[in-house]
Amino acid sequence: MTQKATVISPSILAADAMRLGEEVRSVLDGGAEYIHVDVMDGVFVPNLSFGVPVVRNMRRMFPDAFLDVHLMITKPGRYIGTFSAAGASLITVHVEAEEPEFVGETIAEIRSHGLKAGLAIRPKTPLDELEPWLPDLSMVLVMTVEPGFGAQPFMTDQLPRIREVRAQLDRVNPGCDIEVDGGITDQTAPLVREAGANVLVAGSFIYGKPDRARAIAALRGKI
Ligand code: DX5
Ligand code: ZN
Repeated sequence: MTQKATVISPSILAADAMRLGEEVRSVLDGGAEYIHVDVMDGVFVPNLSFGVPVVRNMRRMFPDAFLDVHLMITKPGRYIGTFSAAGASLITVHVEAEEPEFVGETIAEIRSHGLKAGLAIRPKTPLDELEPWLPDLSMVLVMTVEPGFGAQPFMTDQLPRIREVRAQLDRVNPGCDIEVDGGITDQTAPLVREAGANVLVAGSFIYGKPDRARAIAALRGKI
């Protein structure tokens, strides 16, 4: 199995929205490589969150930050240009969010803007649905909770799926990352890393702690 350095992507869904700039700065100072921005439309998932202005303002305040934008919206192809112009570094769309014939077009559009493309899969969607797109991706996001809300318990039954995606990627696209999102803590991080995930999203585990650097180090297994 390909071994990759661990990347930590704190999810600002769990941050104090009234102090968002400081909250982002605290995790960048604490060693996080990415900032994870959850965009929800109340249709693809039963919740609403951030939109384009948050990405745009974050890019202005943090010109060098890597903005990992997770679109939990239906037909995300409509918004790729907008999020690209706002300053996303990587855009992840859900394989369930478009008709299959448009998934490839959306990935191509993300890449045409010079951005990294990610494809996410919900816990109950068959892995076969990812397969046609694996060679074109920079990242596969294996959800480890049902998307929509932070602070849900980690779904252990996703571990074999992470392993399976890693094995498939090693055959067709070994440079591709695997991100996990939902229920990641110092207890579950070693399990997902062992299964082959290397980009770890964490919301409540990081933002629930006053010492962000310590929480981030704990996810890397460094404490
Ligand atoms: C869930 C979101 C996650 C969420 C994770 O739909 O995609 O990014 O913020 O939250 P935790 O780490 O608290 O499970
Ligand atoms: Zn997310």
